Amino acid sequence: MVQLSTALAVLAASTAAAQNATLRYMPFGDSITEIVCWRSKLWNKLQSTEWASVDFVGSGRTENNCRDTKYDRDNEGHSGFLAINIANQKQLVGWLQKNPADVITMHLGTNDIVQQSKSTTDIIAAFTTLVKQMRDSNPRMKIVVAQIIPLGIGNYNSKVQQLNAAITPWAQQQNKTESPIWVVDQYTSFSGSSDNRDGIHPNDGGDVKMANIWYPALIKAFEAAKADKQKLL
Ligand SMILES: *[C@@H]1O[C@H](CO)[C@@H](O)[C@H](O)[C@H]1NC(C)=O
Ligand SMILES: *[C@@H]1O[C@H](CO)[C@@H](O)[C@H](O)[C@H]1NC(C)=O
Repeated sequence: MVQLSTALAVLAASTAAAQNATLRYMPFGDSITEIVCWRSKLWNKLQSTEWASVDFVGSGRTENNCRDTKYDRDNEGHSGFLAINIANQKQLVGWLQKNPADVITMHLGTNDIVQQSKSTTDIIAAFTTLVKQMRDSNPRMKIVVAQIIPLGIGNYNSKVQQLNAAITPWAQQQNKTESPIWVVDQYTSFSGSSDNRDGIHPNDGGDVKMANIWYPALIKAFEAAKADKQKLL
């Protein structure tokens, strides 16, 4: 009974979110989503468009000294977290229960590689679990997954490139008409040394690059989510 009522509460919350015309976007990831300013740049870029009312959602509100008092800081970026742990510990399940979303971006894998040199296979398996958890929360979730930025420290970039190469065929295989996955390449135009402030996290120029790469895929995701809601409302 407890499980059933929890399931019903989740269903009610996700139905309410689906029937709400306001689009909800969750920036999801690690510190490269949390302690960065690309979210501020992205939010500002959206303000002159029809997507100005999109609600950024998530439990985090960390400010990274972006010198921006206006933007919507809500996000689900968790510094130091591994994709593998978030997936196995079902943390995203709870985060999406608290803050249902129509659209999600995911930039994950850096900590899996840097902290614990996890294999590409294991990271991709975690991505599969995370996508399933997103779709359990919202079968029509629009998903944007990043091929992650390079590092300017250590010798991690061959593993980063290996993960990035695996992301495209994985996403093609996971793709669904009602819940598309778009892959964005945050790697190729990004310099691990000159676009990062500390070898790991983007500096101002890196934040601009990241926002500009997310943007066109995010617009596609918003358009698809809006089309769904117009059918439901
Ligand atoms: C619709 O969503 C917006 C943004 O998330 C929220 O502020 C508002 O309260 C919601 N409205 C209803 C009726 O749930
Ligand atoms: C998934 O399908 C959408 C169309 O629904 C397409 O735009 C997108 O490129 C596909 N994703 C991948 C990784 O092929």
